[in-house]
Amino acid sequence: AEDGYRLWQRYEQVQDASKLQAYRKAAGEIIIQGNSPTLKVAQQELEMGLNGLLGQAVPTTQQPTQQNILVAGTPSTSALIKELNLSDKLKAAGDEGYLLLTTTKNGRNYTVIAANTDIGVLYGSFHLLRLLQTEQDIAKLSLTSTPKIKHRVLNHWDNLDRTVERGYSGFSLWNWHLLPDYIDQRYIDYARANASIGINGTVLTNVNANALVLTPDYLKKVAALADAFRPYGLKVYLTARFSAPIEIGGLKTADPLDPQVQAWWKQKSDEIYGYVPDFGGFLVKANSEGQPGPQNYGRNHADGANMLADAVAAHGGIVMWRAFVYDDKEPDDRAKQAYNEFKPLDGQFRDNVLVQVKNGPIDFQPREPFHPMFGAMPKTPLMMEFQITQEYLGQGTTLAYLSPMYKETLESDTYAKGKGSTVAKDIDGTLYKHTLTGIAGVANIGTDRNWTGHQFGQANWYTFGRLAWDHTLSSEEIAEEWLRMTFTNNSQFIAPVKSMMLGSHETIVNYMTPLGLHHIMGWSHHYGPGPWIKDKHRADWTSVYYHRADEKGIGFDRTKTGSNAVSQYFPPVAKQFANLKTVPEKYLLWFHHVDWDYKVNSGRTLWNELCYRYSSGVDGVRQMQQTWDKVQGQVDEERFQHVKTFLAIQEKEAKWWRDACLLYFQTFSKRPIPQDLEKPA
Ligand code: GCU
Repeated sequence: AEDGYRLWQRYEQVQDASKLQAYRKAAGEIIIQGNSPTLKVAQQELEMGLNGLLGQAVPTTQQPTQQNILVAGTPSTSALIKELNLSDKLKAAGDEGYLLLTTTKNGRNYTVIAANTDIGVLYGSFHLLRLLQTEQDIAKLSLTSTPKIKHRVLNHWDNLDRTVERGYSGFSLWNWHLLPDYIDQRYIDYARANASIGINGTVLTNVNANALVLTPDYLKKVAALADAFRPYGLKVYLTARFSAPIEIGGLKTADPLDPQVQAWWKQKSDEIYGYVPDFGGFLVKANSEGQPGPQNYGRNHADGANMLADAVAAHGGIVMWRAFVYDDKEPDDRAKQAYNEFKPLDGQFRDNVLVQVKNGPIDFQPREPFHPMFGAMPKTPLMMEFQITQEYLGQGTTLAYLSPMYKETLESDTYAKGKGSTVAKDIDGTLYKHTLTGIAGVANIGTDRNWTGHQFGQANWYTFGRLAWDHTLSSEEIAEEWLRMTFTNNSQFIAPVKSMMLGSHETIVNYMTPLGLHHIMGWSHHYGPGPWIKDKHRADWTSVYYHRADEKGIGFDRTKTGSNAVSQYFPPVAKQFANLKTVPEKYLLWFHHVDWDYKVNSGRTLWNELCYRYSSGVDGVRQMQQTWDKVQGQVDEERFQHVKTFLAIQEKEAKWWRDACLLYFQTFSKRPIPQDLEKPA
């Protein structure tokens, strides 16, 4: 059945007859000289891919026997690649990049996948397959591709009992019970999928960490996963619970400046590297949402991060220390706390520490302005943390294509070093000349047959990997690639469905949190609307704290007259956001408390605009339903029906959000809902 298990790696036979003929001709045989595990899987993938795409078996040989040859390898293990004299071009390919080119030698035609490393060969193989999957011309190839960011990492918020924090696609993939002895084929397919989009790291465990994963019984299991992933270039990382020295080490303290604690982590790291020689390092959530951390001992984030960094440094490990920190210390505005805690520590972190910052200053809201820490810590490599799982975006049943949201953050201009200092440039190291760079995505993957619950959730996993490799790709290009590979190359399907995807995020923002509203979702589970949430023991866990609706107006004043969070941005940005006339309308209520009768860009009053936005969100979902209904028959019925059913759920949820929010906010605005709009139920 077409259940989506194969993701974007379906390798169905190419439909376009002339393309099929050209591809069959170009790949008369495959030659891969060298036999590392990574080259083996590259060969397997090319064989499997070509057999499917070409509808015929392609022989693998050791020496040329045919006229048209597909050759893949590195100059160090492949004599054939060496003879092609690519060393000048290969210089530009670096450690993980590759060349794809066509050339002739001794009268034979070669389609070449060349790299300096085996993993580069594997990445190049996936790229070539993608060209065939999307029916591109491969007659005159001449391209070099290298990743712009070094560590491209999934964060699994997976617990050892296999529940997944904020996971909506079944349980954790890691079957701790059957590990280490049973290696599920799913682990391999997971690694293949990641390698196909250049993801090179995976944090197996929840940021709300359990120290048990650091004990030998679990480390054996972790090692088995690492062994399964290794051929695919996928490194394993773990979350480190800061209090582990107490919980599993029997120490009285976890103080990072205590020599015994330092020695414990050093020994623990050595032990981990004994199991997993290429262990990537630790991801740490400390002093946030009740998690233990260095502040429990009067120390700061740098003290904590550096202790762990020292423990893994000799093995080449890194520490990804999260900046998602808040508590009730910033009573006037939670949005300010991370910047206030971290900015003064710039320059104090070890060389192998990255500080991992969520895209916005609150918490993965449907839309947030970029986090003010970006650009603000020149001496510290900042790592981006995006959420792929849709905690605040309708969870498992909502079609939300997230590339436009990721790109919006990446392309935001911090003005840290004048115009053009985009967030992307801070992340990829070009702004402050960092070579240690990283990007993380909180995974949306679970045990559901289709991996991500929603068929279109796969697109966000795909997008994260593609943007991590090259953040200059456009949302359009990525959507198109994904649709072609996942569904069909039929343009009558691609065009409407692509535009449906591209508009989907804005549609959701409209029916959930238009005009800069945020954090008005259901209590604790975060599902559905809850703008009325108040009287929880902490103000910053309520909704009223964020929308501040009253008889006069609505919105959070983050200018000088309010929390002044806006001052954390560089002056040109701060100035723009602080001014009611120049703040981008999408952030209006994020930064300002605005009168109900204030005239917005459309000429409507704020209240009326809010009504229109919520309504247009619902209309947007209905348009998505119409678009999808029209493509019935162009894709398999199983996935068609699955998406159709989920869109019907989404329509219900959109109405729920619209009606709940408008009726609630109306109790403050005391103004009517415009006549021409559908009445809340
Ligand atoms: C959100 C989420 C939590 C998660 C936290 C984090 O607050 O709701 O479940 O633990 O983010 O990123 O640490």
